[in-house]
Amino acid sequence: MTVHFIGAGPGAPDLLTLRGRDRIAASPVCLYAGSLVPAALLDHCPPGAQIVNTASLSLDEIVAAIVAAHEAGQDVARLHSGDLSIWSAMGEQLRRLRALDIPVTITPGVPAFAAAAAALEAELTLPGLAQSVVLTRTSGRASAMPAAETLAAFGATGATLAIHLSIHRLAEIAAELADHYGADCPAAIVWRASWPDERIVRATLATIVAAAEGGPERTALILVGRVLAAEGFGDSSLYAPGYDRRFRPQSAGSRFARGDAA
Ligand SMILES: C[S@@+](CC[C@H](N)C(=O)[O-])C[C@H]1O[C@@H](n2cnc3c(N)ncnc32)[C@H](O)[C@@H]1O
Repeated sequence: MTVHFIGAGPGAPDLLTLRGRDRIAASPVCLYAGSLVPAALLDHCPPGAQIVNTASLSLDEIVAAIVAAHEAGQDVARLHSGDLSIWSAMGEQLRRLRALDIPVTITPGVPAFAAAAAALEAELTLPGLAQSVVLTRTSGRASAMPAAETLAAFGATGATLAIHLSIHRLAEIAAELADHYGADCPAAIVWRASWPDERIVRATLATIVAAAEGGPERTALILVGRVLAAEGFGDSSLYAPGYDRRFRPQSAGSRFARGDAA
């Protein structure tokens, strides 16, 4: 018996990996985080599967459901939205399952920030503008931020920010970041990226609050950075005609042509 943790993607049912789909189909028990996992993914469950929405369960109750499946020798598909490596609560479940000697697999999923960038048709790292993306959030009721992980500290680097779980604090975020990125810095909000009711607002840090007025208070990503409205960036070296690289040696004498490049 194995518990298969599966990243369920950002919302669109076809943004699930083939591996994730196959593991759902092979598991007679499915536990899914109902608040964000699209119900259509449950269509992949085998006939007669036991399907449990864990949105209202405590960690103890979730672990009890897994232990019951373990004792019955039934594999479990455990679905969380987006990818499992960020804000999935997988870590605390893994710790319990390791203590119980219950085997697990982990199948990554498409994270919401990638779906939001796709909705904006944006590359979040552009030459000369930003080469880092910070996936962050602000303090919430359930999780306080570590003291050093402030928007000001991240903002001081100029990196592109993808701010999760924070749409209700938009005004303070915009005001704080304007000090670091400039009030004219592009900002965008994507609500429910890849769902049928996806919504996008593009603005600047100065105008984003007014532009977002009336928008929902949930399931949104705030993106901030010069990359969002950039046209005047340089091309990357990777595809430059004269750039010597392993897959495109520029001369017979190239270390890549000779095969001695590390
Ligand atoms: C608990 S976190 C889950 C993150 C998820 N594990 C991931 O990989 O993206 C939930 C937050 O992710 C963001 N989020 C999740 N799905 C989203 C979507 N489809 N569109 C925009 N933001 C989304 C929102 O900021 C939301 O408050």
